[in-house]
Amino acid sequence: MHIRVLGSGAGGGFPQWNCNCHNCKRIRAGTMRGQRRTQSSIAVSSDGENWLLFNASPDIRSQLEAFPASHPRSLRDSGIKAILLIDSQIDHTTGLLMLRESTAPLEIYCSEPVRRDLTTGFPLFNMLEHYCKVNHHPLPLDGSSFTIPRIDDLRFTAHALISKAPPYSPHRHDPHPGDNIGVVVEQISSGKKLYYAPGLGAVEPQVSAAMAAADCVLVDGTFWRNDEMGQAGIADKLALDLGHLPQSGEGGMIEVLASATSGRKILIHINNTNPILDEDAPERKALDDAGIEVSFDGMEITL
Ligand code: MLT
Ligand code: MN
Ligand code: ZN
Repeated sequence: MHIRVLGSGAGGGFPQWNCNCHNCKRIRAGTMRGQRRTQSSIAVSSDGENWLLFNASPDIRSQLEAFPASHPRSLRDSGIKAILLIDSQIDHTTGLLMLRESTAPLEIYCSEPVRRDLTTGFPLFNMLEHYCKVNHHPLPLDGSSFTIPRIDDLRFTAHALISKAPPYSPHRHDPHPGDNIGVVVEQISSGKKLYYAPGLGAVEPQVSAAMAAADCVLVDGTFWRNDEMGQAGIADKLALDLGHLPQSGEGGMIEVLASATSGRKILIHINNTNPILDEDAPERKALDDAGIEVSFDGMEITL
C-alpha cells in the first residue's frame, strides 16, 4: 500500500498567516530547524496510479501539483479517483471547491452528519451541483467494510470517534456518531493495514482495536499540551475541548501509542503552536525516544 502525506499541518498550516507565535516567528526568520506544512490530507493507493484522497484541504492545489502520481495522463484527468471525508471541518473540506473543474462528478464518501453539514451550514455539495456535481456515497459506521470502485485491492472500515464537529455545525456542542471518524485501510492482497485518525479526542475500544491490528497508525498530532493555546497566549481553548488528544501527560498520545500497537506510529495534523515542529526541541526528542514519527508534507509511507 502506498500512502502519500499531502499535508501534515492542522487548520491554518505552518506558519499560519496571522500567527507570530514562537514557532511561526522562527520558521519565517529561518532560525528554527523544521518544515513548513500545508493543511492535513493524505492519499492512499494500492497500485500507485489510482488514489483515494482523504480530506480536501484548502491547500490541495499545491499539494497535488507537488504529487506527480496525481497528475493527468489524458487531456483532462487525475490520479485521484474518489474522496473520503473524515469530518466536515473547514481544513478538511474547503479544497473540494478547488476540484470543481473535474470533468466527472466528485465521488465523495462521508458519514451522514458530514453530508448534512456540507449541504446546510457549509453547503459545498449544493454549490458543486453548479460545477462538476457530487456523487455522495454513505459510509457504514457499523463495523462493516466497503470497497471503492477504481481503488482496487483496498478495503475500508470506518468507525465513529470522539472528537469535534466544526464550530459552524449544529453538532459542535451536541456530538453525533459520525461527526468525526477513524478509518482502517487494508490492502486485500497483503493484509497490511493503515489506521488513519487525524482528529482524535479519546481512545475508545474500537480505536484501541484498530491501532492494535495496524501496521501503521497515522493519528492526531495537533497539540503537545492540553493548555498549549493558553500557554502560547493565543486562546483559552483546551486541546481536549477542541477534540484533540494532546501528546504529553497522563493518558496522552505518547502513553496511548506506547502500548497500543507494534506498528509504525506517525503523527499528522500538527498545529503551528506544537513544540514538536522544532526538530531540536526536547519534546521532539521525547517522540523519537518513544518511536513516534512526525509526518511531513510529501512523506511517502509504503506498507
Ligand atoms: C480542528 O481540527 O480542530 C479544526 O480544523 C480547527 C479549524 O477549523 O481550524
Ligand atoms: Mn483540523
Ligand atoms: Zn503560530
